[in-house]
Amino acid sequence: MDRAPWKILILLQIIGLTLSSREYVLDSENIFTECLNPPPGSKPFNHLVDISRFTTKKDKDGIHISGNLTTTWDIGPTDRIEINVAILKLDRGNWKPTALAVNVKDFCKEMYDTNTLYYPYSIKYISNKQDVKDKCFNHKGTLILVDPFVLKVVLSVAVPLGPGPHRVVVKLVAYNTDGVPNPTSICMEVPGKVV
Ligand SMILES: *[C@@H]1O[C@H](CO)[C@@H](O)[C@H](O)[C@H]1NC(C)=O
Repeated sequence: MDRAPWKILILLQIIGLTLSSREYVLDSENIFTECLNPPPGSKPFNHLVDISRFTTKKDKDGIHISGNLTTTWDIGPTDRIEINVAILKLDRGNWKPTALAVNVKDFCKEMYDTNTLYYPYSIKYISNKQDVKDKCFNHKGTLILVDPFVLKVVLSVAVPLGPGPHRVVVKLVAYNTDGVPNPTSICMEVPGKVV
């Protein structure tokens, strides 16, 4: 199966495109949690961005998001950021992989490529788009200005996820121009339930 549509779907859904009636209800008001099984040397979400001026508040409509993020990952300005997203499902007490997994070799290039389908959604709520596009996560201290919005993750009918608890596991690794990975990788999860 061509994985590109999944790439698009997963990224869209994390951001909350409304298409159908099934919903991914996030467990944590903070959205991202620490990984249950982090790879050795990986660090949680706060090593990617500083969230001290960012607020997330859950109510019946979804998660209300507002404030600013500042990038905190200490990597090289020309490093290539590879992102890996996998969805695990709780099956009789064990976390099992699902078919939904995607690897994006050059996150900064693809996320902000205006030719991709997910471009408008990926940065829809960022008001300083150009700066964020140019600097991505490669320049520690970059401010990401987020316009307030309500996050509600509605699943497309095309996504084969049954009801129950899931974890969206997101891993980021930065490679320098020699292909050497930065010792600090990022692992974060979005735990929730399909209802
Ligand atoms: C976010 O940054 C903008 C521009 O610097 C500023 O006006 C605003 O007060 C900041 N918001 C928070 C919650 O820090």
